[in-house]
Amino acid sequence: MADLSTKYMGLELANPIVAASSSLANSVEGVKKLEKAGVGAVVLKSLFEEQIYAETEQMQGQGVNLYDTEAAEFIEAYGREFGTRDYLKLIQDAKKECKIPIIASLNCFSEKWWVNYAKKVEAAGADGLELNIGVLPSDPLKTAQDVEAVYLDIVKIIKQEIKIPVALKIGANFSSFANLATALSRGKIEAREFIVGWCGRGAAESKPSWNGVNALVLFNRYYNLDIDIDKVKLVAGNPFSSADEIHESLRWISLLSGRVECDLAASTGIHDGKGVIKQLLAGANAVQVCSVLYQKGLGAVQEMLEEVKNWMAAHKYQKIADFRGALSQKKSEFPAAHERLQYIKLFVGIE
Ligand SMILES: Cc1cc2nc3c(=O)[nH]c(=O)nc-3n(C[C@H](O)[C@H](O)[C@H](O)COP(=O)(O)O)c2cc1C
Repeated sequence: MADLSTKYMGLELANPIVAASSSLANSVEGVKKLEKAGVGAVVLKSLFEEQIYAETEQMQGQGVNLYDTEAAEFIEAYGREFGTRDYLKLIQDAKKECKIPIIASLNCFSEKWWVNYAKKVEAAGADGLELNIGVLPSDPLKTAQDVEAVYLDIVKIIKQEIKIPVALKIGANFSSFANLATALSRGKIEAREFIVGWCGRGAAESKPSWNGVNALVLFNRYYNLDIDIDKVKLVAGNPFSSADEIHESLRWISLLSGRVECDLAASTGIHDGKGVIKQLLAGANAVQVCSVLYQKGLGAVQEMLEEVKNWMAAHKYQKIADFRGALSQKKSEFPAAHERLQYIKLFVGIE
């Protein structure tokens, strides 16, 4: 009998399929259904600071004297505290009712609220926290370094304030992603001298001044912009991925596995057991699924698990560690294959 257990961001999972953050996990009933369906862990729907901010603005518009700064500040703080209350209750209830790990998810834009909410999420009993960060680099005055600094600063402040494991879910579009992923996983390393005793015996040691993330989730699939040409207006693109969208994540999981100092969860385009197996072979510790649950229903989880088990039996693997990362670049005899970007007739036989 195949053992599907895995460790992800320090958490013990019965199997590597994690329900990604979505509206399927915005109520305790939803989380219970996902647990019953067989997922190894659940990421709750993100709490968005923007959402709470908008609610607070509405409150301010309802008869409060906005010129009274103290009142406006109070309403702002009160509104935000109030907005988080339901979310914290969801964490507490999910922890009470379920056995699987519950990972909260936050999306903030101001430092104060990142820290405030992260501490509250930890106190509410979440097993882990996923940071959902997405900065659109649309400002021509901001350099790539400025944009990356936003991610690094958020990780730094959160990791300094809470003890539960932290994952960072990000998009794929960075100019030097391997460099950024390494920095996010390592934290900031500073060489420090530790002198022991009077006689001058000492040990030089590298100690991070702040710790990196416990896991990277590669990659988020953000809201897509589309245009309705009949109505001549902006509309939302298809919110769901297809199985063809697995490749970007697959490439980066295979490139980074064994190289960054944190776990990796694959996300986007995983629609069946084959997708799960591919990501594990590339080196993922866990996979996150969302669209397939909306499109095929929660029964898809058992189908995927069966497919993984059957494949493991056929290949005589007993546990995930027997094959995880076997096709990562680090273990590859032909590492250049992981970095090929151009179609070359010789290899693909087309063109
Ligand atoms: C309806 C819907 C709601 C989502 N809400 C969130 C969210 O609140 N936070 C988040 O980090 N990702 C959210 N996502 C993104 C998913 O968690 C996931 O990363 C994305 O859909 C790619 O995975 P998939 O290919 O398995 O769908 C949402 C996706 C969908 C379709």
